[in-house]
Amino acid sequence: MEIRSSDSLYLDWTGNALALGFFQDEVAVTGDLAQLDEKLAGTLQELISEEEFTGKANTSVVSRVGGNKQIRKLILVGLGKIEEFTENSLRLAAATIAPIAGSSTSLAINFPLFQDNPTATAGAITEGIFLALHEDNRFKSEAPENGTKLAIVELLGLGGTEAAIARAEKICSGVILARELVAAPANILTPITMAQTAQEIANLHNLDVEVLGQEECEKLGMGAFLGVAKASEFPPQFIHLIYKPPGKPRRKLAIVGKGLTFDSGGLNLKVGSGSGIEKMKMDMGGGAATLGAAKAIAQLQPDVEVHFISAVTENMISGGAMHPGDILTASNGKTIEVNNTDAEGRLTLADALVFAEKLGVEAIVDLATLTGACVIALGDDIAGMWSTQESLAKELKAAAELAGEKLWQMPLEEKYWEKMKSKIADMKNTGSRAGGSITAALFLKQFITDTPWVHLDIAGPVWADKKSGVNNAGATGFPVRTLVNWVLS
Ligand code: BES
Ligand code: MG
Ligand code: ZN
Repeated sequence: MEIRSSDSLYLDWTGNALALGFFQDEVAVTGDLAQLDEKLAGTLQELISEEEFTGKANTSVVSRVGGNKQIRKLILVGLGKIEEFTENSLRLAAATIAPIAGSSTSLAINFPLFQDNPTATAGAITEGIFLALHEDNRFKSEAPENGTKLAIVELLGLGGTEAAIARAEKICSGVILARELVAAPANILTPITMAQTAQEIANLHNLDVEVLGQEECEKLGMGAFLGVAKASEFPPQFIHLIYKPPGKPRRKLAIVGKGLTFDSGGLNLKVGSGSGIEKMKMDMGGGAATLGAAKAIAQLQPDVEVHFISAVTENMISGGAMHPGDILTASNGKTIEVNNTDAEGRLTLADALVFAEKLGVEAIVDLATLTGACVIALGDDIAGMWSTQESLAKELKAAAELAGEKLWQMPLEEKYWEKMKSKIADMKNTGSRAGGSITAALFLKQFITDTPWVHLDIAGPVWADKKSGVNNAGATGFPVRTLVNWVLS
């Protein structure tokens, strides 16, 4: 599929499907629309009246255009109230029409400009289309017949936005990589194949890469990460990708993602039908988004140095598994009493955060499918955010807002640290059920000294049970677009 832009007007366009965007309660067929209606023998007005189309956000109506050879299908999509119009309204509207137009060969889109900004408008529409149309048929023996046929999408009235379209395509390639990594089951995506993927991204897009194995991690004293890795048949793989801009970097940043290719819970095994063990292939969602962001940023080439880090392993059981009660020593020398082997993500992140801070970066953002408690607090669509620096939290909020990805800031409530105190070691890895996502964040904070830091708990939004917005059911690629916006801001 190719997305192009032109200065053509919808009145002159001929092709398979034409999509028009309308603000809520602004659906009068006057001016150019009246001319179009005439050309289409009244189909436009009929469609609006009969379907009671009002332009409400995320609604759409569609009609075949009988007899007309110039346009065969007319799609009307609601953009919502004009006073609530954002870039994301365009992204969602594009995502709404893409599957409807999917059986057509060519589609033209005519949407109003966001803030008179053709670049932002074209970028948002492109993202909406690519993300909504992506389907993952890698594991089907035959691709389903109803696969999309859309060959050409033309953005009308947006001539000269080729660069914005290309930029959005690069970002989407990162989102789609993250989705495919998350969706791949644990027998396909192992620590080894995940590290290979990192190597491939590096080769393809000229990034520096190092992958540390068991011995190298031992030398660095990564006892927390290696404790989790003990029962896996696969060696641990500590991934470090580096993007360096051509000139002097404006900033130096680190993105750290939790990379559990499978989380069985360990000896505190996830048992019972409600445990969700069958979904735990997605526990590398943070690492997947880290690699997705690396792929996008390597292509976008900002003037910022970025380190992409993921300590990748599985949390398994065997005679060699970490026992509940074991005491581990992390690479900053702190000791941890593992009172629950299922709170493993924070153990792997502990060593990854220490590693990131040693690089001398200006800010660290970690992202992790860390706690079920965060899903209980914020639901499936919203990530929790904790930060040691308000200005950094604001940067992430702004980046997320632009991306249409949802974050909600949560407190680093020091009083709750009480629950994490151990009699025998410096800390335990698990507190009580109450405030479970907060104590997890407080645990991570023990492994940061003074670098400004943001923690995102993405356990909810990495996965969508059903199609919604730009996401199809399954892996979402959250929050690659937020990370890219942040680095570029
Ligand atoms: N990977 C899970 C968290 C998770 C839960 C991700 C649901 C996605 C969906 C994490 O390793 C975990 O098991 N957390 C425990 C922590 C508890 C033992 C303190 C949890 O949330 O139950
Ligand atoms: Mg766990
Ligand atoms: Zn986990």
